[in-house]
Amino acid sequence: MRSTTATAPGKVILFGEHAVVYGRPAIAVPVTNVKATATLTDAPAGAGCSIEAPDINAHVRLAANPFDPLALAVRLAIQESEISSEPDWHLAVTSDIPIAGGLGSGAAVSAALVKAVLAHSARSRSRQPDLETVNRIVFAVEKLHHANPSGIDNTVVVYQQPVWYLRGQTPEQFEIGKPFQLVIADSGVASSTAAVVSDVRQAWRRDTSRYDQIFDGIGAIAEEARQTISAGRADSLGELMQENQRLLRLLDVSSAELERLIAVAEESGAAGAKLSGAGRGGNVIAVAASENVVEVREALLAAGAAGVLVAQVDSYP
Ligand code: MEV
Repeated sequence: MRSTTATAPGKVILFGEHAVVYGRPAIAVPVTNVKATATLTDAPAGAGCSIEAPDINAHVRLAANPFDPLALAVRLAIQESEISSEPDWHLAVTSDIPIAGGLGSGAAVSAALVKAVLAHSARSRSRQPDLETVNRIVFAVEKLHHANPSGIDNTVVVYQQPVWYLRGQTPEQFEIGKPFQLVIADSGVASSTAAVVSDVRQAWRRDTSRYDQIFDGIGAIAEEARQTISAGRADSLGELMQENQRLLRLLDVSSAELERLIAVAEESGAAGAKLSGAGRGGNVIAVAASENVVEVREALLAAGAAGVLVAQVDSYP
């Protein structure tokens, strides 16, 4: 029985969430400390195609669940492959990326499944799946999760590279002048990206010019952050994070718990911190000099963060 395994990492948005939905630039980086893993194994003839995801208690039969996100990812990947009918496969997908935490768990699960299907069905075993195709499929699945995704989450998770992202344009990889460290703290509060993005949309409709101004401000911070990161001056990112967070508060996507963790991070030595992803829950990210990272991490754990990761931001090979 042949079997193929594929993985996809988590991600964080460094700068630009929400504004990116409205055409402003944003920066996101992969978080390789956590990942989704899909293993595809040939099943006996006639078994059909099934997908098992114990972390979310899902057991899906491809033929019977046309609108399930896991099934959609697999079905769209099969359509792109050289297979004509439903294959006899068993797919198992596991993930240690916190769900509904802003770390891109849904996109990573889809990306791992799609990569496994394309790699398994390729005529040549050495052929790597075409990442543009993987990205297109994962984006289609993201649309099931929330109606108006910008496409940044699937892009960073599929390419596994720091990404400078502008909606509708080919994503650009950009240089990390000097690697730096991020402390990522999980508030433990689940947040629905769909609900928060929809609330921001309603508020934008009510007060378009004010919201557009805030989005412009966030976009300008992302531009400055890109230059700062490429120039290897990550020590200046703290202030930009503080400024981005101030504007996210005006969008009403922060929460008392996120603010508390941001304050703890900054008081324990981080140069700056902000929420990451849709907000209202999920993760806070902080940038800190390497000599302060351990203290910031410990302070966040002592303050009740559900989990804290320290991730290195670097260009990946
Ligand atoms: C969610 O990770 C990021 C948002 O900007 C939504 C999106 O870009 O689709 C809030």
